[in-house]
Amino acid sequence: MSRPLVVESVAALRAQVRDWRRDGLRVAMVPTMGALHDGHLSLIRIARERADRCVVSIFVNPTQFAPSEDLDNYPRQLARDLDMLAMVEADLAFTPTVDAMYPAGFATRISVGGPSAGLESDFRPTFFEGVTTVVAKLFLQATPDCAIFGEKDYQQLCVVRQLCRDLDLPVEIIGAPTIRDTHGLAMSSRNAYLDEAELQTARQLNVVLRKAAAALAAGASQEEAIAEARRTLIAAGFQKVDYVAARESLTLAPWRHDCTGRVLAAAWLGKTRLIDNVEVPTA
Ligand code: PAJ
Repeated sequence: MSRPLVVESVAALRAQVRDWRRDGLRVAMVPTMGALHDGHLSLIRIARERADRCVVSIFVNPTQFAPSEDLDNYPRQLARDLDMLAMVEADLAFTPTVDAMYPAGFATRISVGGPSAGLESDFRPTFFEGVTTVVAKLFLQATPDCAIFGEKDYQQLCVVRQLCRDLDLPVEIIGAPTIRDTHGLAMSSRNAYLDEAELQTARQLNVVLRKAAAALAAGASQEEAIAEARRTLIAAGFQKVDYVAARESLTLAPWRHDCTGRVLAAAWLGKTRLIDNVEVPTA
């Protein structure tokens, strides 16, 4: 078990990556906001398979939080995160400060269209601009050959692919399967906010989505399958359902029975907003 090199400054990050490159090594990046769990660790394992060195960024990115959201309460636990990074042998933890990423006078936003339309954007209109701005910065700072993103945040994965394609960023984006607990609940740093009763309800989210996806695959009407999923989530104890939607897997355009599909949802349990998505099974 070797501890990662911890680097706060962009200059030190660049110097290390330059040294690795000089030695002909391939570099992978895993961007995170910390509060690491098995979902994040799975991305780092993939990174280690796909590259010689793995950079993990830990940065709670203020520009992707709306004023009403949980920026101040978002779990921050760097010492524990570094222990976990040692377990999976990440090579470097990049832990910039907010001032280093967004110095006074910072005035640029990167706005990606296409798959960012709808779903999360209907409820968090500035979220993807925050994500794509910070991801573009991280890629320009670390210049990785590839980067791993979880399918857990499926729309984010599609938006980051679009960002790289449109701006010719030479980073291969690798999507990684969602890691779930034994009840199928997708691991998330925000699960820490849930009490025991809420956890029981949260575990219904993937059950309901899988049922809707199976119904769609079996030819059910999309309107009915989605309405049924919404009803079941409310009956299970979710207070509010932001969306349940079936989308085409690559573009996130509306789904039709003849394309590959994904069913995506966001719903509230108390003050906690959970998201999840599943593939529409193919015959
Ligand atoms: P964060 O929520 O910390 O997630 C970091 C990465 O871990 C994302 O690619 C996310 O999809 C992945 N991930 C989270 N839970 C997962 C799970 N259960 N299984 C597999 N992968 C999982 O997503 C962000 O941070 C930020 O928006 C970021 C991209 C870092 C930009 O600030």
